[in-house]
Amino acid sequence: MDTSSFELLQTAVLLLDASGRITYANGAAEELLGRSRRQLAGRAAAPYLPAHSSVLKTPLADPPGGSLIEIPVHQAPHLADLRQARSGQAAQREVLRNLAHEVRNPLAGLRAAAQLLDMELPRADLHEYTQVIIDEADRLADLVTRLGSPQHQAAERQRFNVHEICERVRALVQLEFGEHIRFERDYDASVPDILADRDRLLQALLNVVRNGAQALAEHPDIPAPTLSIRTRIVHQPPLLQARHRTGLMIAVLDNGPGVPPELHDKLFHPLVTGRARGTGLGLNLAQECLQAHGGVLEFDSRPGHTEFRLLLPLSTS
Ligand SMILES: Nc1ncnc2c1ncn2[C@@H]1O[C@H](COP(=O)(O)OP(=O)(O)O)[C@@H](O)[C@H]1O
Ligand SMILES: [Mg+2]
Repeated sequence: MDTSSFELLQTAVLLLDASGRITYANGAAEELLGRSRRQLAGRAAAPYLPAHSSVLKTPLADPPGGSLIEIPVHQAPHLADLRQARSGQAAQREVLRNLAHEVRNPLAGLRAAAQLLDMELPRADLHEYTQVIIDEADRLADLVTRLGSPQHQAAERQRFNVHEICERVRALVQLEFGEHIRFERDYDASVPDILADRDRLLQALLNVVRNGAQALAEHPDIPAPTLSIRTRIVHQPPLLQARHRTGLMIAVLDNGPGVPPELHDKLFHPLVTGRARGTGLGLNLAQECLQAHGGVLEFDSRPGHTEFRLLLPLSTS
């Protein structure tokens, strides 16, 4: 069978032989299942398929007894996917931390040399260039410090009202972005106090809300720029582990331009940014924080409607 056209599909496609073993997986399937075609080949398909009936199975004449499986991507088996993403991210951060460590010393040397050079310059108009070296070295040093700092000090959990941190964040971002943006609050008063690391969660929410405000501020042509913070109790939250029957959702919505489409797939990776002076760490750290709490950060975005959702487990059954 010519499989080249399957590569163009968003839908994950698997071809199985008569015994239900995988003979082919398209790119979407590799991505969905977090494994390469080579790793999947020859394995039984059943453990990889989501339990629900949305999987389409078409019998094939060739090979006899074989079948073609389609998994619509919105029905992705989130948990397997997420677990894979989590271990990948942890490994990535480890690499970044080591890199940060390696870069710090030469960077300090570079800056010191630029400063010496600056003092020896024969012409005043050349200072501009040494100053660029010094400023950029400072910016890199700052980035490296943030990359290298361990995020996983033991979480200091305490019980608090999430609306208190929502209000803190709103006040901070309102101060920073002034009158330009309208803020809406839609809090569910029945949300119980949660047990979490208050400072880190505040930082995560701040990163998300500030991104929304920045997106709105960068596009002054948007009519009625509005940022909303919404809290809800969610039952059977789909992305949390099954034992959590209820979850808390903090949703941050804006009517800005939307996340650039080319960033969607890698938005939570470190150093991914759509801004000239961005660090690309805000969402990565926010995701790390949520995951450290057994939760997850997810988003939907199109022009005029962007929603980031912080999901945290509430009860354990
Ligand atoms: N609400 C939003 N609207 C549009 N784009 C967004 C929004 N939130 C995040 N982004 C995009 O995601 C990128 C990564 O965000 P982040 O991880 O916080 O890094 P940084 O803010 O330093 O760029 C941003 O540069 C921006 O392009
Ligand atoms: Mg940011």
